[in-house]
Amino acid sequence: MGTSKARIGILTSGGDCPGLNAVIRGAVKSAARLDADVVGFRRGYEGLVDPVTYVALDTTNTSGIISRGGTILGSTNKGRFAARSGIDQRLELDPQLLRDVQRTMDQLGIMGLICIGGDGSLSVAQQFHEFGIPVVGVPKTIDNDLSATAFTFGFDSAVACATDAMDRLHTTAESHERIMVLEVMGRHTGWIALQAGIAGAASVILIPEIPWTWENVCQKILERDNAGKRFSLIVVAEGAELPGGGLVTTPDSSVVGQVRLGGIGHVVARQLHERLKRETRVVVLGHLQRGGPPTNFDRALATQFGAHAVRLVLQQQFGQMVAYHPPDVNNVPIHDAVNKISRVSPDSSAVVAARTLGVSFGQFPPGESPLLRSLVDESSSQSTDHIAPPETSDHYDDAVEPS
Ligand code: F6P
Repeated sequence: MGTSKARIGILTSGGDCPGLNAVIRGAVKSAARLDADVVGFRRGYEGLVDPVTYVALDTTNTSGIISRGGTILGSTNKGRFAARSGIDQRLELDPQLLRDVQRTMDQLGIMGLICIGGDGSLSVAQQFHEFGIPVVGVPKTIDNDLSATAFTFGFDSAVACATDAMDRLHTTAESHERIMVLEVMGRHTGWIALQAGIAGAASVILIPEIPWTWENVCQKILERDNAGKRFSLIVVAEGAELPGGGLVTTPDSSVVGQVRLGGIGHVVARQLHERLKRETRVVVLGHLQRGGPPTNFDRALATQFGAHAVRLVLQQQFGQMVAYHPPDVNNVPIHDAVNKISRVSPDSSAVVAARTLGVSFGQFPPGESPLLRSLVDESSSQSTDHIAPPETSDHYDDAVEPS
């Protein structure tokens, strides 16, 4: 590559999600029209140092990737820049690592680095900025948990996947008069569960932001039974806290001190089977939500993010993160973005609308049952323990079904 043009670096960090390639394409196409080169670092921040691994990106090798899931650059949420440095848990990076990154930037003549990532990866970008490395952030996560942007790309695609799963489960639930439990991702927020639950016509939605009880979940299922609807769909967010307190997790052996959420769907299915003696099945959607092509919304948002990030670099507006404040894509300081997680408000119009339709959040509407309310408050203030998932099975029934 010649050195006369402005040169921009770009990388994708943390868990993958649909739309990463659309950002890369959007950035490369915009840069080409603004007479700048783009260099893509491989495997997230890891590609910046020892060994420095990168590829020159142009409109030819990024052509046709707008609809492709994953990231052509590769990514990691492990290693020397591990995203343990998220909200409230920032770990300082080794200053030598920062100096090494600075050296790579200088040697390759990169005027600004576009870092595409979630809160942990953006927290690393913030440390780069504080050190003097010129960065611009682009928010990505299926969880939609960054407060500084109305939406992150990837979220809409994850909701579409979860809604499709709900539609498919609906038919079997109805045909076989079963309770179907769908566990979705979302980390410590319930955005995916809420949106997919509404769009997929769930009877019960269980999310981290709303304390719930087994009794109230059973109550909803019994109400439906009495109304002649002997099937129910329940969507539960992986980060929903159990009624007695505690998250369902498995230790992540690849990262010291980290846990991986997952398994609550099985706990819910087993409890409902034991309490109601009804046939109950569970599906854990897992990484299906992060794969596949981005939706049209995510493609359009990600493309705009890529174009805006390039403009920010060329205007030398470093330390900024692109953000979506409908109808506009604009920018905010990265620092603001990594400081506050966005959570579902129990009073939000989406929750109120769902409740109005009869969807249960496993809780009586506030004010309706003061006694229950105080019990719920008590249980939600218990400390959060981590609970291992039970030995798993996708079905909980007593009878052997005819084949
Ligand atoms: O942050 C995105 C996300 O998919 C979460 O919803 C989930 O808890 C986590 O990443 C899973 O991470 P991993 O792929 O490392 O298991």
